[in-house]
Amino acid sequence: MLKESVIEIHRNINLPIAAAIGLPNALYTSDQGFIDDRDKVMAPSWACIGFVDDLPEPNFVFPVDFMGLPLLITRDNNNDIRVFHNVCSHRGMHLADVPCRTNGLVRCPYHSWTYQLDGQLRGTPHVGGFGVHEHDDFDKSASNLRAIRCEVWLGCVFVNLSGTADDFLHYVAPLTRQFDELCTLNERERFISNSNAGRTQLTVKSNWKLAVENYLESYHLPTVHPELNRISPLQEHFSLDYFDQGAGQGSSNYQRLNIDDVELPRLAGWPEEQMNKALYPTLYPNTLIGIHADHLFIMMLQPINKDETVEHVRISYVGEEALSDTYSGHHDAMLSNWSNVFSEDIFAVERMQKGRSSPGYTGGKFAPSMDEPTVHFHRWIAQRLLNAADMGDS
Ligand code: FES
Ligand SMILES: [Fe+2]
Repeated sequence: MLKESVIEIHRNINLPIAAAIGLPNALYTSDQGFIDDRDKVMAPSWACIGFVDDLPEPNFVFPVDFMGLPLLITRDNNNDIRVFHNVCSHRGMHLADVPCRTNGLVRCPYHSWTYQLDGQLRGTPHVGGFGVHEHDDFDKSASNLRAIRCEVWLGCVFVNLSGTADDFLHYVAPLTRQFDELCTLNERERFISNSNAGRTQLTVKSNWKLAVENYLESYHLPTVHPELNRISPLQEHFSLDYFDQGAGQGSSNYQRLNIDDVELPRLAGWPEEQMNKALYPTLYPNTLIGIHADHLFIMMLQPINKDETVEHVRISYVGEEALSDTYSGHHDAMLSNWSNVFSEDIFAVERMQKGRSSPGYTGGKFAPSMDEPTVHFHRWIAQRLLNAADMGDS
């Protein structure tokens, strides 16, 4: 994209909200827009690429296709999680293509080089001639898997592809401060999930940014989610404090699930008078969060291409006891409730994607009192595009 175009996009979205113009259609409908999202928006940020429970035991590997990049999440014998480019150092073969338990090594299916789960190249059969597995001129330590900066947080695996982002805890600090009034860091770590308790995925035929925009606002609640709006109406939603890497909304009327007078275990430190509070922040670029006294959900957006996104959902509960069969009815009901809500949003994001193919739409208008979070997100995207253009990466 020409730097002049990026400057114009940035200027238009930074006008006062009533005059601001949203991101242009090409960022939602073109292959170049998709690549720009990956290399200029996702790469310098902390993007979520998976969940720790995708690797259910030690010595496990989990391949991920992230916007065309083959990545590999590994969990070693010590349960340390790492992420690598999923490519053999030899002739560039895509290394692992299915999630699997290993013997502590990943073997390339082409010439059988093997790598430890910490990325070190271990075996190089016949590299010095038949039956000779070393070569004086070949330095194995220079051919390890290429590591990617990664962090684990709330059961999610995040990567910083560029290696240049702020320290992760600094990146999320403004968000965690908003959690702090409800639950401490130690308490949040009590949210755990397993493969039975709540996971689903939805495929939407839309650009990933439209899924973010839809999640950021509660304006659509009465029309798209009439049932939810009856329980937790629009007027009882509030905006979260904006922060550098995200925005969102919350509800002051969250109704905890009650089945036959049994409720799920709750975080002990969550203030009694705020029991009906729920926060729905988005950590830019692609992590959508719902935090409640009795459960946490994360929706990770995996962009497949410019007009297709997979929404991976995990629901976590408070402590091991909450995962027991005693609460299996709650797990089913919770998953069903959220799946219904998320499904209701599909037509909205898909029809916005359709609208983006029209030359009659050029970014649209914003409702001044309702669309501030969307504007905040557009400004964040525009700033990343401008940063890349300033570095000559256009
Ligand atoms: S490409 Fe992997 S061992 Fe040759
Ligand atoms: Fe919605």
